[in-house]
Formats: sequence, C-alpha cells, structure tokens
Amino acid sequence: MPLHLIVLVLTLIASDLHCGNGARILGVFPMPSISHQVIFRKLTLELNKRGHELVVLTPDPVNDTTLKNYKEIDLHFLYDSLDLGSHIDIRGKIDFVDIFKYYEALSCFHTNEVFNHPEFRKLYAPNSGENFDLILLETFVYPAFLSLAERFKAPIIGIASAGLQMSVQYDIGNPILPSHPSNWNKDMRDFGAWVPWERLDNFIKAWRHIYYYRTEFLPKHQAIAEKHMGIEIPHLGDIHKNISLIFVNQQGPISFARPNLPNIIEIGGFHVSESIKPLSMDLQKILDNATQGFIYMSLGSNVKSNMLKEETRNEFIAAFSELPYKVIWKFEDEVLPKKPDNVIAMKWVPQQAILAHPNLKVFIYQGGLQSTEEAVSHAVPLIGLPVFGDQDMNVDKMVSLGVAKKLEITAVKRDDLLEAIRTIALDKGYKQRMLTLRSLLNEKLRDSLENAIWWTEHVIRHRGAPHLHSSTSDEPWYQRQDMDIVAFISAIFVITLISSLVILYKSLIYCLNALTRNFTRSVGKDKKGN
Ligand SMILES: *[C@@H]1O[C@H](CO)[C@@H](O)[C@H](O)[C@H]1NC(C)=O
Ligand SMILES: *[C@@H]1O[C@H](CO)[C@@H](O)[C@H](O)[C@H]1NC(C)=O
Ligand SMILES: *[C@@H]1O[C@H](CO)[C@@H](O)[C@H](O)[C@H]1NC(C)=O
Repeated sequence: MPLHLIVLVLTLIASDLHCGNGARILGVFPMPSISHQVIFRKLTLELNKRGHELVVLTPDPVNDTTLKNYKEIDLHFLYDSLDLGSHIDIRGKIDFVDIFKYYEALSCFHTNEVFNHPEFRKLYAPNSGENFDLILLETFVYPAFLSLAERFKAPIIGIASAGLQMSVQYDIGNPILPSHPSNWNKDMRDFGAWVPWERLDNFIKAWRHIYYYRTEFLPKHQAIAEKHMGIEIPHLGDIHKNISLIFVNQQGPISFARPNLPNIIEIGGFHVSESIKPLSMDLQKILDNATQGFIYMSLGSNVKSNMLKEETRNEFIAAFSELPYKVIWKFEDEVLPKKPDNVIAMKWVPQQAILAHPNLKVFIYQGGLQSTEEAVSHAVPLIGLPVFGDQDMNVDKMVSLGVAKKLEITAVKRDDLLEAIRTIALDKGYKQRMLTLRSLLNEKLRDSLENAIWWTEHVIRHRGAPHLHSSTSDEPWYQRQDMDIVAFISAIFVITLISSLVILYKSLIYCLNALTRNFTRSVGKDKKGN
C-alpha cells in the first residue's frame, strides 16, 4: 500500500477513535469504598481513552489534570459516615435482612448528600442544558439515581463491584435462588451442609428482604429523588427493570455458576495490574532473604486488623510466633503489642508486589473479591476469615476449589491457625491447584475491559438495549417461578384429598349405620321370635 494511503487510513481510524463518535457519559458511583471504586474507575478511564467525555461522581477522584474531557465531582466526604468496624462484632448475630436495614439509613443519607452537592445540583437542574448519552450507575444501594434516566432521557448501564443482591435480581427479572451458593444475601455459613430447614429459613428471608426493599426501601429513594429533581418520576422499580445492562464483577472459574439474564455481563478481573510497582529496597531484601518462605496477612481496606478484639489478635500473635516463616501483617496502628520478632507490621502494604513474590507461602485475608482475584492472578493459596458481604461466598468458592481453608474470625484459635498455615505451606497441592485455576482464569475469548467497552458502546449506539430485556421482570413474583401454579395444583390436591377423606368418612359412617340398623333389626327380630 502506498504510504499516503496508510497515513490516510490511520488518520481516519484515529479520528474515529478520538473525536468521531465520542459520547457524553455521566457516572454516579457513591459508595465510599476504594475496592468498589477501582472497578468503576478502570472502566471510566478507558472509556475516556476511547474518546468519550465523562462526568464522574466519586469519593475517590483520580485528580489527573492531564485527562481531557474527564470531569470529576469529589464525594470524598462520604467516607466520614462509613463505619464498618462493627461488622466483626455483629457477624452471625443479626440476619442479612437486618443488615440491609442498616444500609438503608446510610444509603438515604449518602443519596441526599450527593443530590445536595452544588456541582451535581447544577448538572441535574431542569434548565441546566446538560445532555448525556448514557448514565453509568453503581448498582448497590442507591436506586434513587435511576431517576437520572428520566431526567436526561438516557439509557442506564449498572455496574456492580461484586455479585448482585437479590433485590436487584428481582427488579431486573433474574431468577431468585435463595439457597444457591452464588447468592451472598443469605445466612448459611457452611458451604455444602444445607439441610432443608435452612433452605426454608433462606426462602422466607429472601422474600421478606425483597418485600421490604419494594415496599420501604424503594419508596424512600423515590421520595428523595423527586424532592431533589422536582419532577415526577416513574416508579424506580419500573426504571430499573428497563436497565440496558448490568456489568457484574464476577468471573466463571472463581464464582459459583448460576443462571443469568443476557443483559448481565461478567466483567471480572480488570483491576488486576499488569505492571506492578517494585517493592521498596528494604522490603525486597527482607522477602528475598526469607528463603524458608513468608506469610502475608491483610484484612483489606474496609475491615482493619486493628478492629480485631484483643483476644483474637493474641491468637494470631501466638500462632505467628511459632512459625519458622516471616510474617508481613498489614496492621494499621502505630505499634503492634507483643509483636514476635518474625512479624513485620506495616500500615500500608504494596499488596500486588507482595503477592507476586516467589517466597510467599500463604495469604491470610478476609475474602474480599479483589484480593481473591489478585491472589489467583499470582497463584497464592489462601486462608479466608470472612467478615461480611460477599466474603463468605468468595472464600467458600476458593475452599471448594481446594486452594484455600476457611476459619471463623469470631472464634479463631491459635492451633487452628497453625494447622491451616502448616497444611497449606507444606502440601504442594494447594499451590498446584492455584496454578491450574490461574491458567483457567487467564483463558478468555476477550479481555474483560475490552468486553465492557464493547457493550457500553453497543448501548450508546442503540440508545439502550431493549432486545436484551427479559419479560420476567414485567411479571409478578408468583408468576415468575410458577408459584401460583404450584399453589393451584397444591390446592386441587388438598381439596381432592379432603373431599376423598370426607366421602370416605361419610361412607364409613353410612355403612356403620346400616350395619347397626341391620344388627338392631335382627336383634329385634330375635327378641320377637323369643
Ligand atoms: C483530589 O482533589 C480534591 C480537591 O480538588 C482533594 O480534596 C482530594 O484529596 C484529591 N484526591 C486525591 C486522591 O488526590
Ligand atoms: C420500559 O420500557 C417499556 C418498553 O420499551 C416502556 O413501554 C416503558 O414505558 C418503560 N418504562 C419506564 C419506566 O421507562
Ligand atoms: C538473612 O537471614 C539470615 C538468617 O535467616 C540472617 O542471618 C541475615 O542477617 C539476613 N540478612 C538480611 C539482609 O536480612
């Protein structure tokens, strides 16, 4: 091809990518948790790179002044209202339906604060003159922002940093599976041992939760949205069921397979860094020198090690002190009391660089999804001590794959810890299965991020995706899972059974009466005869 033709083609491609079909996208991601935000950020930054203009509401702005057409509205103040410390204390004491009620107050508060943000107010004011081609919305506990679809007459894509809650599944018409292992809104803790009464308990709680969400939670959010927007808004549940897509941060090999609608798109794993920042010289030396191996422990960014009760912390310390390994412990206080010599406490840890170190034997963690993905991507076996949310589910899945052990954080004992660490460090099987899992996870038709971009642009091009809409979301609850039919058949069965019993009873009585009559008659005859 002549050079000038190549240049022309390249220019055309470049202009198409960068200024040709750029859409204007509004992203609303209120949850003050960096583990949620890293997922959303990766997508919005990439969309920006592809030539789209973004306005992003987030508590963790990137503040990168070199970005063009990327405006951030800083919601960092929302962090002040979040207290997850109590989650260790309430673990196992209150059910998930009540935990959701805790989030109700928080989410209403956050929603009001976001709507009140002066920059956002300017944006959604009725005469603002702002237009968007797409709304990207965090699918979590903020349904009030679904109203933006009505305000801007734009399609919505939801994005969830973990698996979907049952209330969301219900809204969009996905099957409700109260006791399925993929469902993290449940109280069953032990994977595998599910007795019928536990399923009954889950069934009742699931529908109580959905009922509460539809009759209390949604109306509160509806009221908040209408108050701030000053316009009439269709029922939020109806907007939700018309959602174009939901990106769900799950991926086949490391989550429990479940039936999903075609508009649920899995996007897992795209936050894992390809380029890892090197360790500090000191740390690198220490870890290189740990030829026996070392252990890494972190409870993540929401649950902190300093939230552990003293007695629990002492169990960890006692166990670690008996190990022949170095231990890197992400511990947020200045001093770790009674710290053994082999333990190095660090306030902040370059997690991915540590996980990448070949001397690492075991990662002790809280079961967070991002940490799970990072551990798999570096093939590090795990010990999970889940605290809340989807953490039990993530650890259950890892245990079922034979790459992890699970311990109960409210009742950790040094011996159990030691046994778990020694088993995993000495049994090569855990590492081997992790390597297999990693290669399975890496085998993808399309890169997750590339896939998410394709679907986003698909929705922008067609101004929505009604072709993916499932009519199940339009059906009432009893029709979706044929509960009315089951009830009808049961009723017929019961009526038939009762009628048969009544007829049987009546016939018996009749026969008995007839017999008695005959008997008395013949006795009477006998008497006369005498
Ligand atoms: C981003 O900028 C805002 C103010 O412009 C500031 O409050 C915030 O701390 C900055 N965030 C980061 C991560 O640098
Ligand atoms: C949802 O979509 C249907 C079909 O396109 C439409 O008739 C209905 O008005 C929509 N509802 C809302 C609340 O947008
Ligand atoms: C490496 O470890 C050995 C003992 O395991 C110790 O004697 C030595 O001082 C360590 N070196 C560094 C640089 O930490």
